[in-house]
Amino acid sequence: MNYRIDLTVLSESERGCLMGLTVHNLSDQRISSWSLEFLFDRYIEPKSLTTGDIQQVGSDCLLTPNMTPLEANGHFYCEFLIQSMPIRFHSDGIKQAMLVVDNHLRYPVDVTPIALTQQNADSSSLPHPLVSAIAIIPKPQQLQALSGQFLLSSNTCLLCHSSLAANAKQWLEQEMAELYAIEFGQQPTPTNHVELKFNPTLNAQGYRLNVQSHCVLLEASSERGFVYGVASLLQLLTFPDEKTKCGYLPCVLIVDKPRFTYRGMMLDCARHFHSISSIKKLINQLAYYKFNTLHWHLTDDEGWRIEIRAFPQLTEIGAKRGHGTQLEPQFSHLDSVYGEFYTQTQIQEVIEYAAIRGITIIPEIDIPGHCRAAIKSLPELLFNPNDHSQYKSVQHYRDNVLSPALAGTYTFLDTVLEEVCALFPSPWLHIGADEVPEGAWSDCPLCAELMKDHGYEQPNQLQGHLLSYVESKLKKLGKRMVGWEEAQHGNKVSKDTVIYSWLSEQAALNCAKQGFDVILQPGQYTYLDMCQDFSPQEPGVSWANVLPLETTYRYEPLAQIATSDPIRKRILGIQCALWSEIVTTPQRLEYMVYPRLSAVAEVGWSQPTQREWHDYLSRLPVHLKRWDKQGVGYRNPWKTSI
Ligand code: ACM
Repeated sequence: MNYRIDLTVLSESERGCLMGLTVHNLSDQRISSWSLEFLFDRYIEPKSLTTGDIQQVGSDCLLTPNMTPLEANGHFYCEFLIQSMPIRFHSDGIKQAMLVVDNHLRYPVDVTPIALTQQNADSSSLPHPLVSAIAIIPKPQQLQALSGQFLLSSNTCLLCHSSLAANAKQWLEQEMAELYAIEFGQQPTPTNHVELKFNPTLNAQGYRLNVQSHCVLLEASSERGFVYGVASLLQLLTFPDEKTKCGYLPCVLIVDKPRFTYRGMMLDCARHFHSISSIKKLINQLAYYKFNTLHWHLTDDEGWRIEIRAFPQLTEIGAKRGHGTQLEPQFSHLDSVYGEFYTQTQIQEVIEYAAIRGITIIPEIDIPGHCRAAIKSLPELLFNPNDHSQYKSVQHYRDNVLSPALAGTYTFLDTVLEEVCALFPSPWLHIGADEVPEGAWSDCPLCAELMKDHGYEQPNQLQGHLLSYVESKLKKLGKRMVGWEEAQHGNKVSKDTVIYSWLSEQAALNCAKQGFDVILQPGQYTYLDMCQDFSPQEPGVSWANVLPLETTYRYEPLAQIATSDPIRKRILGIQCALWSEIVTTPQRLEYMVYPRLSAVAEVGWSQPTQREWHDYLSRLPVHLKRWDKQGVGYRNPWKTSI
């Protein structure tokens, strides 16, 4: 390439990180009129730039050097401050850059990995415990190993005595056929069958699995219970021999049930789009690990990903970003138009696929912040030209908040919520509510009027105003509103709202004390977009933590609260999350998710007394082997170099 940029961390102090940026012209052509567009997700203090001018929208930065020519074989150098955490990873650097010549010619630029001032400690290395043959994750509540084994083959008959087991049966049949090419036999046999039987005495999500040498009996009292029993059965099965197509189940008696009723994962499909097949592959693994919820983050500043039939603009405009579209490029794909969306038919297909695996999908429509894609798509409804409020969101946008003072906002919300509620059978709908920037609605005559009418003193009370409208709309549509911890800001939503805490556990406790039900999703332990280790090459972000497998595994929800404290009854469960700013490919998705997903699964399902790090490690190798067979990528925690 003819051009290259180097970014160097010069120093780190309380004022921020001082960065040096060099643009090299490696060609023999002098360039007199140029600018540099690059993707960088830290905020550059515009006034700190030593030479030139910088404009930044989100991660899209345009550096204009004030008529400084770029000499042939010469370079341009500037410095600037960023106000953010120390920089320790290459992922923190510039993602992509283009040289813009004479305002319209665009040339690719080679980006060297960011030069760091300091590195974290070396990569961690894990002990190698003896591999367990019975290796179920999450660890069952009671497991008794018995002698002998059950031979599973195409001669085995699958007997289903309960309609509640129909989904589990279908899932088991599909997995056996796809993974091992085993089709169950059709003839009932007294000595070689797997039997699924209703047992009303078992816990709502529990199951009992008894593998004997002549038969397997799986009992449960609910659809989910049967699915979890099948998950254990699939995990117990040794890979069938390729030739004989016979697999073995060790004889065991398992009686099991979860610690928390809610065990979820959030997937961000807005920052980067993940294909239907990637999502199904993930859902299948969620079922293997006895999760019951996928929280689907479908809208954000950088993309609107769900078809809304009444407003095709939301996806025609709001799903795309890049030059020539309404949204600037962000995070990746500087040189092309990026973005897709899910049709309602595709979403329906995913919902059904998940239901067979005992997984409910909760859609998230993030409001009133994180709405830039929607606002750009429907300006006639959502843009408020008289709002001159100055704000900057955490992701560096100045125009991403819905206006509570526009009639169009309510038309938009009513229509979108009606379609989304009709599409998703989930009884809950997530309305986001996170990260509304300070300053929103503070310089807007219509907002001021609305505040006066309702006696509000602070503009941020308008958030509560909007959300309480949304809550009653959802109630009319038969849904319970759930949202991030900021949903209770402004004190206007009812205690029926379920709060998902993410910044800290403290927020969860505060909300639980006020009477909200809570889902714990502390970024420090459960954000799977955090780097998994300390080496600079490790992909990810690190604002909440560096999050090795062990840290995730050792997370104990509300460890400082007594087990007998009634506040614990408000904690419905836990959830991990994959935000997708850095998740550009299916391979990256799987690298970030596995094996940490299995660690979170054990936190959510198994009793604290049953969780033990070395014991978990002894079970993990069997899972890596299965992921290999299933074509699921992962970060091998025993291989330290990446
Ligand atoms: C969040 O991480 N903004 C919920």
